[in-house]
Amino acid sequence: MENEQGLRKQPVYLLAIETSCDETSVAVIEDGTVIRSNVVSSQIETHKRFGGVVPEVASRKHVETMTRIIEEAVEQAGVQLTDLSAIAVTQGPGLVGALLIGVVAAKALAMTLGLPLIGVHHIAGHIYANKLVQPLDYPLLALVVSGGHTEIVSVEREGSFRILGQTRDDAVGEAYDKVARALGLPYPGGPHIDRLAREAEEAIPLPRAWLEPESYDFSFSGLKSAVLAALNQARMKGRELDPGAVARGFQESVVEVLVEKAVRAARATGAKQLLLAGGVAANRGLRDALAERCAAEGVPLLVPPLSLCTDNAAMIGAAGYLKYRNGEYETLSMTASPTLSLEAWSLADSAGRTDGDAESERA
Ligand code: KG4
Ligand code: ZN
Repeated sequence: MENEQGLRKQPVYLLAIETSCDETSVAVIEDGTVIRSNVVSSQIETHKRFGGVVPEVASRKHVETMTRIIEEAVEQAGVQLTDLSAIAVTQGPGLVGALLIGVVAAKALAMTLGLPLIGVHHIAGHIYANKLVQPLDYPLLALVVSGGHTEIVSVEREGSFRILGQTRDDAVGEAYDKVARALGLPYPGGPHIDRLAREAEEAIPLPRAWLEPESYDFSFSGLKSAVLAALNQARMKGRELDPGAVARGFQESVVEVLVEKAVRAARATGAKQLLLAGGVAANRGLRDALAERCAAEGVPLLVPPLSLCTDNAAMIGAAGYLKYRNGEYETLSMTASPTLSLEAWSLADSAGRTDGDAESERA
C-alpha cells in the first residue's frame, strides 16, 4: 500500500493477548483486520474434571503457557518483535487473576519494546471479531452470547457501544452448562445440548422469560430451575425424562427469546447488520433461527467462524486497533479490571465518527 508521497506504508502490527477466562491466546494482527497469527491454548481438558472453570487453576495455567504462546504467535506471524507497533491486552471483564497474567505480560512487552499499551474490553473484542471477516456497516446491532455474557449491544458508530439489554442472572452459556450438568453431560455442555436438541423428535414444554414487554433484558435462571424441577418430578415418579426432549425444550425456549429480542432491537435501532458473537454463536439452533428471521426482516446477519466466536486474541487485536488509531493508550499503571464497563470503553471521539467501514477503510 502506498501513501500520498508514493512511499510504501509500513503495516501496523498489533500483538494482542487474551487471558480473561480459560484460554491463553496471543495473536498478531496487521492493519486491524488481517490475522497474521492467532494461537489459542485451551484449558478445557484441565477444568473438565472439576465440571467448570476453577479460577486459581486458570491463572496458574496462563502463567505456565504465556511465554511459549507469545513466541509461537510472533513466529507464526513471520514478524520480529521489533516490527510490532503496539501491544493490546484484554483488560476486563473476566476472572481477575486470569486477566492479571495477560496484563502483566502485555506491560512487560510494552515496556521492554517501548511500545504503546492498549487495554481492550473483552466484549468489544467478541463484537469486533466480525471485522476480521468482513467490513462493518453502522449502525449495527450485536447479540453477544457466551459463557459469561448475554447482551444486546447497539453500535451506532465505530467503537461506540450502548447496551440495550443484558441478562439479569445467568449468562446463556452458563445456563447451557448447568442444564448439561443436570443431564450428566460433560463440561462444557453447550455443544452436547445442541446436538441432542437437533436429534430429538420431541420437546418437553418449558417457559419463556420475556420479562416486561419492552425489555431487552434476559433471564435464564428460571428456565434452568424449570428444567431441574421437571427432571426431579419425573424421578420422584420413578421415571427418567428423555435427555433429548429436555435438551430440545430448553434450546427452543432460549433460542426463541434470543432471536425475538435481537430482531426487535435491530428493527428499533435501524441496524444495517446484526452481528452474532461469543461462544454460544456456535449453536446451530440459534444460527439457523436467526438466519431465517434476519432473511425475513432483510437484515444481513454476520456470524464469525467458530474459531473467532470462542475466546481468542485476534478479536482483541481487532478491537484494540480502534484505540490504536485513535491514539488512546494506557500507561504502565494500568490494572486488570474484572468489571470494566463496555459503554465507558467506547472510543473517546466516537460521537464524531459517522463513517461505516465500507467507505472509511477504502478512502
Ligand atoms: O465465548 P466463550 O468461549 O467463553 C466465554 O467468554 O464465556 O463461550 C463458552 C460458552 C460455554 O458456556 C459453552 O457451553 C458455550 O459457549 N457453547 C455452546 C455451544 N458451543 C459452545 N452453547 C450452546 N451451543 C453450542 N453449540
Ligand atoms: Zn468470551
